[in-house]
Amino acid sequence: MEKKQSGTGTDTDSVTKKVPFLNRIDLSSPDIHQSVSLLKQACLDSGIFYVINHGISEELMEEVFEQNKNFFGLPLSEKMKVLRNEKHRGYTPLFDEILDPDNQVHGDLKEGYYIGVEVPEDDPKAEKPFYGPNVWPSDDILPGWRHTMEKYHLEALEVARAIARIIALALDLEADFFDKPEILGQPLALLRLLKYPGQISDPSNGLYGAGAHTDYGLITLLATDDVYGLQICKDKYAQPQVWEFIAPLKGAFIVNLGDMLERWSNCLFKSTLHRVLGNGQERYSIAYFVEPSYDCLVECLPTCKSAKNPPKFPPVMYGDYLGQRYKDTHIDLNVYNKLQS
Ligand code: OGA
Ligand code: NI
Repeated sequence: MEKKQSGTGTDTDSVTKKVPFLNRIDLSSPDIHQSVSLLKQACLDSGIFYVINHGISEELMEEVFEQNKNFFGLPLSEKMKVLRNEKHRGYTPLFDEILDPDNQVHGDLKEGYYIGVEVPEDDPKAEKPFYGPNVWPSDDILPGWRHTMEKYHLEALEVARAIARIIALALDLEADFFDKPEILGQPLALLRLLKYPGQISDPSNGLYGAGAHTDYGLITLLATDDVYGLQICKDKYAQPQVWEFIAPLKGAFIVNLGDMLERWSNCLFKSTLHRVLGNGQERYSIAYFVEPSYDCLVECLPTCKSAKNPPKFPPVMYGDYLGQRYKDTHIDLNVYNKLQS
């Protein structure tokens, strides 16, 4: 192994390069071969690409952003009424999450709001972790808010399914591979509204909008406003790490691959290491985490293993995996109970 250069003044962090070019996958294109080829190239290279012409109207996108702002603009006392519960639904205050504890001095400088698939309390499925009813701000305070978010949740899932079909083809699987009930038939799709306050991050002092992390599931659809903040590190094992800004693209989704796709594909497709730096301007973004169901067994795909390339990971139950990741990155809810009592 080559000896690492010393005395360059860089630690784990480093130079920020120019904004990289990302492939654009056009969901309205009739040329599926081209889409598969562009997507595959992106997945082999960086695990991140844009999706354009996805079919969600501009009006709905604008409305979701508007309602996102409306929520975070409420007084803290109002937001605390819909505090995140044990099913991971509701409001997450500043510092609630810490995505990269080794390099952060405190939690992420962001507020969030989780909205999952609605499962009524009396549905047997609600007994499982992560399944249950959502929590909603009162309609008197934010009229139409729930309706907007539920509509977006449904439409984003259809976009995710369309992208997953292209991913399946890129992995030499049947197009509907990920449509199985335990994967995207009944997924654990989680919409997360985010607001980064107008503070400047300082990586060398461990201050981040969102610490470096990979997402957990299959893919994430990210919609952002036009404020820069998101960065990726293409080679997550390189030292020093090289971080590049991802340019916001109006009307498009930024799509990045999650850890389950890395496991399924035996590391052919890698999950994208990313983080968010605050630049002094407020920033709003909306993440949609597309994840398999709790009971899905994620094991190496038949097209991604051979005698020479055996599976690198043992099979894992997605729910077990996810539970651990949430535990590692979120404050214990008892902290809030103590604060309020
Ligand atoms: C996330 C995330 C990026 C952003 O919520 O996992 O990486 O731009 N968000 O908000
Ligand atoms: Ni992320």
